[in-house]
Amino acid sequence: MKSAVVTGAGGSLGRAIALRLAQDGYGVALLDLPGDGLDESAAELKAAGARYGVFPIDLRDAAALVRTLAEAESLGALDVLVNNAAIYPATPLLDISLDEYDDVVAVNQRAYFVAAQAAARSMRARRAGSIVNVASITWHGGWEKLASYVSTKGAAVALTRALARELGPDGIRVNAVSPGAFPTKAETIHENPEAYNAFVLDHQSIKRRGTPAEIASVVSFLVGPDASFVTGQTLNVNGGWVME
Ligand SMILES: NC(=O)c1ccc[n+]([C@@H]2O[C@H](COP(=O)([O-])OP(=O)(O)OC[C@H]3O[C@@H](n4cnc5c(N)ncnc54)[C@H](O)[C@@H]3O)[C@@H](O)[C@H]2O)c1
Repeated sequence: MKSAVVTGAGGSLGRAIALRLAQDGYGVALLDLPGDGLDESAAELKAAGARYGVFPIDLRDAAALVRTLAEAESLGALDVLVNNAAIYPATPLLDISLDEYDDVVAVNQRAYFVAAQAAARSMRARRAGSIVNVASITWHGGWEKLASYVSTKGAAVALTRALARELGPDGIRVNAVSPGAFPTKAETIHENPEAYNAFVLDHQSIKRRGTPAEIASVVSFLVGPDASFVTGQTLNVNGGWVME
C-alpha cells in the first residue's frame, strides 16, 4: 500500500495535493494545526472515498513531527512526502521581530528539513521514495514585506538540491514545486484584492488565475513514475510569469 504525507494539508494547496494523491492511490496522512482547515480537508477526503489519516500537529515541534511521520506509516510505508505548510506574515523589514522571523523559519524551513530527514530514514531502507518541497515565485525576484518568508522559500529550493544530490544514490528523488500567485487564503495579505488580481494577470502569460488542482497535478507528476529520472529540479507553476 502506497502512502504519502502532506504537511499543511488543511490549507488551500495542501488540500488539493492531498486529494490528488488520494486519487492516485496513496493513503494520505493529513498534517496541519488542529482546526477547521484540517477538519474540512478530512471531510473532503472522506467524501471522495479516500484512504487517509488525520494528524493534528504544530510543525514547529520537531520531536512531534518525527513521531507523527512514524505514526503515519500506519497507512503504509512512506513513499511520498510533500512539505507544503507555510506561514507568510507580511511585515515591513524594519518591523520584523526575531520571534516572528524564528517562527517563519521553524515552519517553512526547519520543519521541511526535519520531515525530510525522518522520511529519508524510512525511504532509504526500501531504496525508494519521493519528496516534494513547495517553494514560491517570491524567491525568484524578491518581494517586499516578506523578507523572512522569501528567504525560507529560497531555502526550500536549496534543500531540494542538497537532498537530491545526497539521496539519489539511495533511490530517493527530491524536487520542488514553485507556485506563482494562486487565489487562496494566502492572497488575503494583499490590501487591495482587485488591484492584486489585475497585477497578477498582467504579469502572467496565461490570462487567468491558476487553480490549486493545477499545483496538485504537478506534484502528482513529480512523485509518480513519469518523473522517474527527474530529481533536484524546481518546477515553476505560475502561468508563465517567471520563466527560468
Ligand atoms: N497560494 C499561493 O499563491 C502560493 C504562492 C506561492 C507559494 N505558495 C506556497 O504554497 C504552500 C501552501 O500555501 P497555501 O496557499 O495553501 O496557504 P495556506 O495558508 O492555505 O496553507 C498553509 C497551511 O499550513 C498550515 N500551517 C501553518 N503553520 C503551521 C504549523 N505551525 N503547524 C502545522 N501546520 C501549519 C496552516 O494551518 C495552513 O493550513 C505554502 O508553502 C506557500 O508558501 C502559495
